[in-house]
Amino acid sequence: MDGAAGKPYLAVNGDVLATTSTIPPRVRKPGDPLDLTPFKLPVEWPAMRTMPRLIYGTAWKKGETEELTYKAIRAGFRGVDTALQPQHYDELAVGRGIQATLEGGLHPEGGLWVQTKYSPPAGQGGQCPYDGTQNQRHQVQESAAISMVDLGMLDCLLLHSACPTLSQTMEAWMEMAGQIGHGVRSLGVCNFTFDQFASFYHECVNLNRLSFQRMRPAFASPFNKTDIFSNNHQCTVPMVFQGPVAAVNGYATLLRAFCRKHGVIFQGYWVLSANTQLRKRGPVTTLADRAQVDPAVALYALFLGSDPNMAILDGTKDEKHMEQDIKGLEKVAAWSVANLAEWDSLVERFEGRLAEHAGNEQGAERSWSVEIMESLLSRQQSIPGTDMLDTRAWQDHLLASWYGAPDNM
Ligand SMILES: NC(=O)c1ccc[n+]([C@@H]2O[C@H](COP(=O)([O-])OP(=O)(O)OC[C@H]3O[C@@H](n4cnc5c(N)ncnc54)[C@H](OP(=O)(O)O)[C@@H]3O)[C@@H](O)[C@H]2O)c1
Repeated sequence: MDGAAGKPYLAVNGDVLATTSTIPPRVRKPGDPLDLTPFKLPVEWPAMRTMPRLIYGTAWKKGETEELTYKAIRAGFRGVDTALQPQHYDELAVGRGIQATLEGGLHPEGGLWVQTKYSPPAGQGGQCPYDGTQNQRHQVQESAAISMVDLGMLDCLLLHSACPTLSQTMEAWMEMAGQIGHGVRSLGVCNFTFDQFASFYHECVNLNRLSFQRMRPAFASPFNKTDIFSNNHQCTVPMVFQGPVAAVNGYATLLRAFCRKHGVIFQGYWVLSANTQLRKRGPVTTLADRAQVDPAVALYALFLGSDPNMAILDGTKDEKHMEQDIKGLEKVAAWSVANLAEWDSLVERFEGRLAEHAGNEQGAERSWSVEIMESLLSRQQSIPGTDMLDTRAWQDHLLASWYGAPDNM
């Protein structure tokens, strides 16, 4: 679909339930101030809510989850991230926190963005909240049903991690797609490698194309695609990608470029916790001084400014930090309008630092090569017997054979 105007996004028995609209990709242009406008997904549901650029993360809050969720919304957060994964999150308490704000008379204009995750049994650490011995269809359905009870309407349901093979990932995804229109409004994934995500994304696009042509053939491998059509499930493309942003993964530069290209919103976590060095010097501290904000806020602002397609997960437990982050970002946005040339140069310096720190990690040096990577993947997919590409070694080998050793690129 790729955001094409008016194309059906989901059709059940021929009734179009939601449509895509043309949303121009958010790419930074010199002279752009910090823009905190929430994302409007290219999917139109009645009363579709928008996704803010700063989302409250509810992991590891344990017994304080309800209270902290309440406080975060009261402080101005307009999006909440959770998961049905008891070892790290308390989804029911998040729902109670949201409910408490509504009962307290807080009805945020534009609503509240609420997202959760289907976490496969392998990631449940022995505390699976649904019956993990059942088949995947049952697991996804039960997990989504519990989340619906915990949270009400789900603006986005994310697949917490890729399954061992692309076929298994697609099976889980098709079940999640079956939840759309039944309380779930959009879908996303977390923690895929670049290779996993690119293979998966293109598989979704291909299936979508086929389904809109109303083809109902019995396909051979890699999995039973007939099933998709007999259940009237359409394969949807992901709207959201959630993953870490740290030096060790090249600040997800390549993944973020892929997301920008395909209109998938990138949600970053570890932005503060894994980037202490970035926070302590250079453009971050300069911006903090100039705009009179905390360096944590300056770091958030520079990521959001340099990548307008990105949202950030903020999991602070400190009420002061909650307010400081929300108000501080607004302060930087206003400062950037009044000091455009300086803001521009800080964003450029920040991007330079990311490239420098990313070094030879997957990312900065190859940020220009999304097209090449995609073409590599499509070649590899055509090799019989292979399911997906997920080794760096294989990419390096191919890139080296095409373009010389990676270090010379
Ligand atoms: N999908 C996944 O697999 C996955 C994985 C990890 C995280 N997540 C999501 O991302 C969310 C965020 O997690 P995270 O790992 O990025 O770390 P985080 O929970 O946001 O941790 C931020 C750390 O920085 C500190 N901090 C200092 N000043 C701060 C400020 N001004 N604002 C915010 N924090 C400040 C916080 O301490 P104080 O509490 O004292 O402020 C905290 O120790 C999670 O809650 C979860 O929703 C998802």
